[in-house]
Amino acid sequence: MTYESDLLHDWYVLFHYGTPAEILSGSAFAESDLPDGALNFPVATVDALDQKTPVARALDIGCAVGRSSYELSKIADEVIGIDFSRKFVDAGAAIGSGEPYPFHVYSEAHLREAKSAHLPAGSRPGNVSFEQGDAMNLRDDLGSFDLVHAANLLCRLPEPRKFLDRLPDLVNPGGKFVISTPATWMSEYTPAENIPPGKTLDFLKEHLAESFEFQEVSELPFFIREHQRKFQLSTAQTSLWIRKP
Ligand SMILES: C[S@@+](CC[C@H](N)C(=O)[O-])C[C@H]1O[C@@H](n2cnc3c(N)ncnc32)[C@H](O)[C@@H]1O
Repeated sequence: MTYESDLLHDWYVLFHYGTPAEILSGSAFAESDLPDGALNFPVATVDALDQKTPVARALDIGCAVGRSSYELSKIADEVIGIDFSRKFVDAGAAIGSGEPYPFHVYSEAHLREAKSAHLPAGSRPGNVSFEQGDAMNLRDDLGSFDLVHAANLLCRLPEPRKFLDRLPDLVNPGGKFVISTPATWMSEYTPAENIPPGKTLDFLKEHLAESFEFQEVSELPFFIREHQRKFQLSTAQTSLWIRKP
């Protein structure tokens, strides 16, 4: 499915900025039916960085409509959010204006209601910029970062190794990299020869171990509303890495 469509735009704005009441409206589910944190995924992946002190620069790659970028702005003086979808990065930037941002919540696949998304409290939009870019071919002058966040991007890349190969240059010595993935590898996105032959965590260790110390891994749940009777409930394997000196 293309991330340039109006439908995906609406699903992701709701996923990132919707209130529990908006996400669950009209559905048979209550928040208490869901795993803890399932409605807070773009915040939880930033929390997984476990960054207690302020940093200078953070990168959110595969940022979609930008919620995690705004969460990163609470701890970083400069945040760059990059996504392949022009529509998504434009949405992220527009939300930064502080004006109510229009999107739709679907009750049935063909019925939708107009809603407004809002900038998360405490975020510092002046610290955040968004740009369209390709995780497998990032611009050369991006510089390096204290924190790099890549949520649910890896298994959407045709050449995931190309993205992993750039990481040692992107993360400052002692800096942190968090990557989450549901490991839903599909040939629609990743040609069979580029899909990890074994477990995704082993693939990450194989490609990152030379430059990064593996810290820990957890499963973070997420819940994406399509319409009031159709949702995606998944978990993303989330691992934290520290760049070696
Ligand atoms: C499953 S969504 C996850 C988005 C967001 N990080 C989240 O966790 O909600 C995958 C995102 O990766 C983006 N994407 C896909 N291929 C990409 C590429 N080559 N470079 C950068 N972003 C890409 C898509 O546009 C989409 O926003």
